[in-house]
Amino acid sequence: MNRRMLHIRIVAILSVVACSTSPARESTVQLTIRADQPGTAISPTMYGIFFEDINFGADGGLYAELVKNRSFEFAEPMMAWAEVKPDGAAGAIEILDQGPVTAASPHYIRIKAATAGYGIVNEGFAGIGVKQSEKYNFSVHGRDPTGKAVLRIELISPRGEVLADATLRGFNSKWTRKLATLRPTATEAKAQLRILFDGPGSADLDTISLFPERTWKNRPGGLRADLVQWLADLKPGFLRFPGGCIVEGRYLSTRYQWKNTIGEPEQRKLIINRWNDEFKHRPAPDYFQTFGLGFYEYFVLCEDIGAEPMPILNCGMACQFNSAELAPLDELQQYIQDALDLIEFANGPINSLWGAKRAELGHPEPFNVKYLGVGNEQWGPQYIERYVPFAKALKEKYPEVQLIAATGSDPQIFPNGPKEVAYLWEQWRKLDAEIVDEHFYRNPDWFFDSATLYDGYHRGNQKVFVGEYAAQNVGVASPDNRNNWKCALAEAAFMTGLERNADLVIMSCYAPLFGHLDRWQWTPDLIWFDNLQSYATPNYYVQQLFSLNRGDVVLPVEISGQEPPTSKQPGLYVTSSRDMQASEIILKVVNSAPKPTPVQLKIEGVRRLARRGMATVLAAEKLTDENSITEPNKVAPVTSRPTGVSTSFEHTFPPYSVTVLRLRARD
Ligand code: AHR
Repeated sequence: MNRRMLHIRIVAILSVVACSTSPARESTVQLTIRADQPGTAISPTMYGIFFEDINFGADGGLYAELVKNRSFEFAEPMMAWAEVKPDGAAGAIEILDQGPVTAASPHYIRIKAATAGYGIVNEGFAGIGVKQSEKYNFSVHGRDPTGKAVLRIELISPRGEVLADATLRGFNSKWTRKLATLRPTATEAKAQLRILFDGPGSADLDTISLFPERTWKNRPGGLRADLVQWLADLKPGFLRFPGGCIVEGRYLSTRYQWKNTIGEPEQRKLIINRWNDEFKHRPAPDYFQTFGLGFYEYFVLCEDIGAEPMPILNCGMACQFNSAELAPLDELQQYIQDALDLIEFANGPINSLWGAKRAELGHPEPFNVKYLGVGNEQWGPQYIERYVPFAKALKEKYPEVQLIAATGSDPQIFPNGPKEVAYLWEQWRKLDAEIVDEHFYRNPDWFFDSATLYDGYHRGNQKVFVGEYAAQNVGVASPDNRNNWKCALAEAAFMTGLERNADLVIMSCYAPLFGHLDRWQWTPDLIWFDNLQSYATPNYYVQQLFSLNRGDVVLPVEISGQEPPTSKQPGLYVTSSRDMQASEIILKVVNSAPKPTPVQLKIEGVRRLARRGMATVLAAEKLTDENSITEPNKVAPVTSRPTGVSTSFEHTFPPYSVTVLRLRARD
């Protein structure tokens, strides 16, 4: 072979490998996209986020507070705290409740040091993550009538090295908030916070807090920046909050009550987190909700990341998997009033009672809540009895707010599920409900097989919200479930079906969102983190690919040359849409086959296409591949600019892959 021929051959091979496009030649599968026949509009809310304080997702996670049990209000007031009494040091501690900082947080600690070196230490959330040279803001409410107490505040490593320290003095007989700045000399994921007396003395301390200076948008007492960034990078259509079962509570007394989550942090009365003892195999006795990430912070977060707020509220029913406690119908008014007040808090004018509170907190402009969920996973006639008065009151006052009605939990996992779901759907049709929430926690095969689930669904006035879903490769909420590529691929296949049925399905979100690597209860989760780092799962990247490439209208696609794919018969799952502003045709293809699949693509209804397209491919070598802290990008999207695009061209879809092709129309 002469040099010129060799060069031509190398160029030819490279163009196939790099671009996966080549001039038309025979291939088995043909996809024909009718670019001039825009179908139904895809709702901007199609792909959103589900947030719940599970797996230490809020306290210990998104809410950047580093001290656990900062107010000594856990059921065991000294939980997460220990006495520090090195050799030769002496003293005593007491938990008291006379004359507290606030009634919402009645307990505080009295430390009586007989010698220097006596004090207390906090373990954080499986440690305290600190980064070298960054600033950490310590604060404490303190009281010492003698004015003599001198406190040394230290961050220490697990080996006992002092990473940062500061001194506080000048307390008096009134509760005073004191501040100090700590700058660690080293990065440490499992540091502890120590408060020691410099000599004999006594002080009352409460709300002992430590925050990184660098939070999301550098807001004091704010949210963990890396975790919010993951959310922002999804460009989510909505943010569902606060859950999940946490809305319901194990008992009505521990339900989520939004009014307890606003105002000064120390005024927010904490409660036990319902995931505290839900799973015997993953006990979390130290899991409480401080509500530091409360409803105001939630609305601001929605605004920051451009997501529609979607509060889900308790409707007088505690979790039906737990106590199933019911608020009597004649006591429902307080629950309904809470819902009405929340809308006023979010949307009301600043001269309304709750609108004024919003303005006082720093946001005179309304948050424009358009959606509200009435209950989480509720079922049975008791739900209908409660939904009806809720809907009546809410619609009378706020007809513009669309209500979300539930269909219980995943029909496979709650008592008599399929029958209950059928019953609820019948009720929702009768009651002319607006949006109906469905949940699916199934094995990956179900997701592959359910890409067609909504094709044949009844179409009435109700829109569908796939409000919780995630492929479970071992079993529902099994601790052995993995965020592996097979699950993500199956979810992608399912999502092609959501998008194709955009006339019916207007919202969807993966659940749960976050998992603390050391403290989770439920797996799989979309984003994992430890005290310093975080990574996105393959499932996250699937969500992101769909969200960033949603398009405005569905385009019809004809597929020939393959049998409809199923879990048993792998193949291509396809959906296409058009981004009107960018004038781009978007093609999402999930190849569930273990081999590359060449496809003849025909784009009808456009005169010309730009010769270079944009291809983003998410693929993995093995279906068991996962991301991790050490290999965060093992399965991550790769973008290229294929050439040779025309109204009829060939493209090869890699094995086990999700591909988004964006093709610019030049009409
Ligand atoms: O996503 C975890 C839990 O699953 C949610 O809290 C609940 O709604 C569902 O059962």
